[in-house]
This record gives sequence, C-alpha cells and structure tokens, in this order.
Amino acid sequence: MPIPDKRAITAFPIHELLASRWSPRAFADRAIPPDVLGSLFEAARWAPSSRNLQPWHFVVAERHRDSEGFARILGTLMEGNQIWAQHASLLLIAVTQPKPENAGRANPYAHYDVGQAMAHLSIQALANGLYIHQMGGFRRDMAREALAIPAGFEPVVSAAVGYLADPSVLPEEIRDRELTPRSRNPLSEQVFSGTWGAPHPDYA
Ligand SMILES: Cc1cc2nc3c(=O)[nH]c(=O)nc-3n(C[C@H](O)[C@H](O)[C@H](O)COP(=O)(O)O)c2cc1C
Repeated sequence: MPIPDKRAITAFPIHELLASRWSPRAFADRAIPPDVLGSLFEAARWAPSSRNLQPWHFVVAERHRDSEGFARILGTLMEGNQIWAQHASLLLIAVTQPKPENAGRANPYAHYDVGQAMAHLSIQALANGLYIHQMGGFRRDMAREALAIPAGFEPVVSAAVGYLADPSVLPEEIRDRELTPRSRNPLSEQVFSGTWGAPHPDYA
C-alpha cells in the first residue's frame, strides 16, 4: 500500500511545506537524529510571543532512547490515540504558564503562543522530513502527575512526531482515516470583508 498523497488542494498557491503538512497515524520505526530534533525545538523557540514571554515548555520522550519516558507520556493519551501514537518516534506534551511569576500579570496569550510555537515546530518538522500529529486527547491531570509538571503550569496539547510509514501498518479500523482526503471550509466562510459576515469579493 503506497503512502497516501495528502497534499492540500488549495484555492490559491501556498508554500509547499504548508501544503504537504498533514497529521498521520502511520509512523515508521525510526529514531530522529539529535540534530534534526534540535532544529524542531529551535524553530519553536524562535516563534513570536506576546511580550516575548515564550510561554512554552515541552516534555518530550524518544521511543528509541527513553522507553520509560515514552511509556509515561503514552499512558496519558486517550486509548484511541495510544493505538497509533505508540509507534511514533517521539511523544511530547506542550506546557504553558498562564500566570508567569515575574511578569506581573496574567498572560492572556499563553495558549495562543504555545499554538504558534507548535505551528513553527510542525513546519520545521516537514522541512526535515518529519510529521507531527497533535492531540488534545490526553488526560491533563494524569500528565501533570506522571510528568511532575509543577503547580502554575498547564499541559496544553500532546503530539506524536515521526517519519511516515505505509498505512498498512495500521489496524484496519483506523487505516481508512489515513486514506481519507483532507478537507477544509471555504475561504468565503473564514474571511469577511470589512464587517463580520460580509462576503469578500475575491473569495465568493
Ligand atoms: C489542538 C489539536 C488537537 C487535536 N487532537 C487530536 C486527537 O486527540 N486525536 C487525533 O487523532 N487527532 C487530533 N488532532 C488532529 C486533527 O484532527 C487534524 O489536525 C485535523 O483533522 C486536520 O487534519 P490535518 O492535520 O491532516 O490537516 C488534533 C489537532 C489539533 C491542532
């Protein structure tokens, strides 16, 4: 079974890396070289953030290097995610600090900025031949405890990182999803002209 072509079908041209990003479930049994992994976190590090607070931290575990740590993160995922995420090269939990101690006030952009750092990481991953599958489906309280995340810090999202594999490695019940074409709502529903709801002439 070939690796599916999940490239976005776009109304306007977009960068190849953006078009070819998708969230796979079939991962190859392959470790990520340390310098490549370093590039992913370096990309996240250079994401913009409100007041340059950089309110992101990543608890990570590589399957081939830290099987115990990997199992700890895996155990926090919902069962439906564990089925496929157990084969990823790396699992991570992204963590934020909504009220930084020395910043004087709450950071209303903490979660937003983590999302932006994850977007940087995702696209750098593509540039290095890797794919990310983010997951909201994990137990936050369990993650807090199992990973010793201190009070005042919040687990935001988990993610599986790895190289693509042939979908035939997946159990049948989730293989179909791997082969389904990607879809998006039209720009006409997402971009308004001047006032809320007003159609934009270029995206009708
Ligand atoms: C915050 C967030 C949470 C997500 N949670 C899950 C999840 O728990 N399980 C899963 O299989 N996919 C999850 N996804 C992946 C989305 O379903 C996926 O990004 C979306 O369907 C679009 O597909 P694409 O990434 O292949 O373009 C999540 C994605 C994001 C950004």
